[in-house]
Order: sequence, then structure tokens, then C-alpha cells
Amino acid sequence: MKEAINLLYKRRSIRKFTPQTVTEEQIETLLRAAMAAPMSNHKYLSELIVVTDRAMLDQLAETHRYTKMLKEATLCMIVCGEKANRAWEQDCAAATQNILLAATGLGLGSVWLGIHPNPDSVATVRGLLDIPDTYSPLCLIAIGYPAEYKDPSDRFDLARVHRGRW
Ligand SMILES: Cc1cc2nc3c(=O)[nH]c(=O)nc-3n(C[C@H](O)[C@H](O)[C@H](O)COP(=O)(O)O)c2cc1C
Repeated sequence: MKEAINLLYKRRSIRKFTPQTVTEEQIETLLRAAMAAPMSNHKYLSELIVVTDRAMLDQLAETHRYTKMLKEATLCMIVCGEKANRAWEQDCAAATQNILLAATGLGLGSVWLGIHPNPDSVATVRGLLDIPDTYSPLCLIAIGYPAEYKDPSDRFDLARVHRGRW
């Protein structure tokens, strides 16, 4: 149990990666983790796009100025939701967090790269990956073997906690 809690602190945004590739078994673990996330409605599971092709990773790296680390990452997962689902952003965010935590548990580095709600970023990713109009990408997740280390986070701040009422 303590290990699970420590994983939450251990997860940090990793933006430097080695060339070592992620295995298919690891990819499946990440997909299973995503699909284990809480969801607002059983009808609307998030859709996941898995990209390992170097040329496509390089193109995705140009989506905006903070996605450049995809030039080093060996895997990108794109979490998409059906826009007809009023809670698609929340569902995709929960799936994304599960992927980040599972990646950490596997000894991989990862970072959440925001796409929605920036219309230009959404259009770029939609165009590159043929995402249907009825769906939207929430984010890209850059994943790979870490080439940097970050200390576990400690952002606990009791001043932001309101007991009973604000
Ligand atoms: C909605 C969202 C969008 C983010 N977009 C980016 C991004 O485009 N590029 C990036 O390098 N990091 C991005 N991040 C990661 C944050 O910068 C990072 O989580 C934050 O600085 C805290 O650091 P930590 O993840 O190491 O704890 C994003 C995180 C969230 C939740």
C-alpha cells in the first residue's frame, strides 16, 4: 500500500529520454491502466492512439513549443474522448493520470502534453492522426526510458485545505 502512495510522489514530468524502445508488453500495461480509470458513463470509454513511428513522433513534436521532447520519446499515447460525452475531458484526464502512474511504476518517464482546448493544437493533432470530428484529443503523453531524474514531489500545503467549509 505504501508503495502505491509513493508512486504518486515519484511521478514527475520527464522530458529527456534515452533511445531505448518501450516493449509491446509495457504498452499493453499502459493501455490496461488507462482503461481501468474511473469514467463518467460506461458508454464512453476514452479512445487511445499509440504512436511509435519515429517520423510521426517527430511530426507530433512540432504541435506546439512545449511538445518538443517527442523528438526523443520513443512512444506517444494520445487520449481522445467522444465530444457527445459531457464529461469527456474528465474521463480522458483520469485515463491520462493512470497512464502516467503506470509508466512510473514500469520505470519509464512520461509527461502530459496539453492539446485541448487549444484549437490550433487540436487541429494539428487531428490532421496528423485522422481523428474523427466527433472525437477530440485531450493530450499527448510522451513516454520513454528516462534520461533525467527528478526528486519525488512534495507540494503539500495545508494553507490550501479548507476543513468543513471554505
Ligand atoms: C493539463 C496539463 C497540460 C500540460 N502540458 C504540458 C506541455 O504541453 N508540455 C510540458 O512539457 N508539460 C506539460 N504539462 C506538465 C506540467 O508542466 C507538470 O505536470 C507540472 O509542471 C508539475 O511538474 P511534475 O509533473 O513534475 O510534478 C502539462 C500538465 C497538465 C496537467
